[in-house]
Amino acid sequence: MEVIICPDYDTLSRKAAAVVADLVREKPRAVLGFATGSSPVGLYRELIRLHTEEGLDFSGVTTFNLDEYCGLPGDHPQSYRYFMNENLFNHINVPMERTHVPSGTEEDWRACCAEYEQRIVEAGGIDLQILGIGSDGHIAFNEPGSSLGSRTRRVYLTKQTIEDNSRFFDRAEDVPTSAISMGVGSILEARTCVVVVNGANKAEALAAAVEGPVTSMITSSALQWHPDTRGFCDEEAAAKLTMREYYDWIAAQREGDN
Ligand code: F6R
Repeated sequence: MEVIICPDYDTLSRKAAAVVADLVREKPRAVLGFATGSSPVGLYRELIRLHTEEGLDFSGVTTFNLDEYCGLPGDHPQSYRYFMNENLFNHINVPMERTHVPSGTEEDWRACCAEYEQRIVEAGGIDLQILGIGSDGHIAFNEPGSSLGSRTRRVYLTKQTIEDNSRFFDRAEDVPTSAISMGVGSILEARTCVVVVNGANKAEALAAAVEGPVTSMITSSALQWHPDTRGFCDEEAAAKLTMREYYDWIAAQREGDN
C-alpha cells in the first residue's frame, strides 16, 4: 500500500479527491465505489467544489456504495443512502438512477446481495473504491474475523462499531446491530482503492493495516494484497507508523519524478 502522509485533513481530502477527479476526466463512464462515515466527507466536499467551480462532469459515472444499515429505509436520516444524497449525490450531476446503495430493508437479503454483486459485474467492475477504516481496523462493515474472501452479505456489528457509530444517533440503542456490507473479497476486486484515514483514534488501526500481518482480525490489512491501494492519512493517524521516514522519502522521490 502506498502511504501518503498529509499535514492535515483538508490536504488529505483534496489529494484523495484529485485521484477521483483524474479518473473521471480520463474515463467519463468510470464506476466509483463510495464509503460513508466521517472520513470521506472532506473528499466529497472537494468533489462538489470541483463540480461546481471547475465543471467536473459526473454525468457518465456509475456508483456503488459499500454498505447500508439493516432496517433503515433510504429516507431515514441515518441511512447511508440518505448520507450519500446529502453529502454528495444531490450536489453533483450524477444521474440518481446510476447510484447504488445496498438496500437494508429487503426481506430476502441473500438474493438482494447476489443481485448487488451482479450489478457491479454488469457495470464492468469498480474502477476506484473509496474506503475509510474503522477504529477496529474494519473496511466496509467487515468486522474482525470476517473472511478475507467474503462477498456482499448481512453482517452483525461489533459492540465497538455500534459505540463508534452511536454519535450519529440520538440514543445508543437506536444504532442498528446489523448491516448489508460488501465483503473483503468484493472490495479487493476494485481496480484501485483510495483509503482516507484521519485522527489519533485511527493511528493503531492504520499501523496494523499497513504494517501488521495480513489477518482477518484487521480486515483492512487485506489491502496489502491489493495491487493499487493508496492510503491518504493525516499526521495524527500516521503517528504509529514505524516506517514513517521511508514513506516520506518515497513521497519526496515521487515529487522529484514529476
Ligand atoms: C462506511 C464504511 C465504514 C467506515 C469506517 C470508518 O461506509 O465503510 O467502514 O469507513 O467505519 O468510519 P468513520 O469514517 O466514520 O470513522
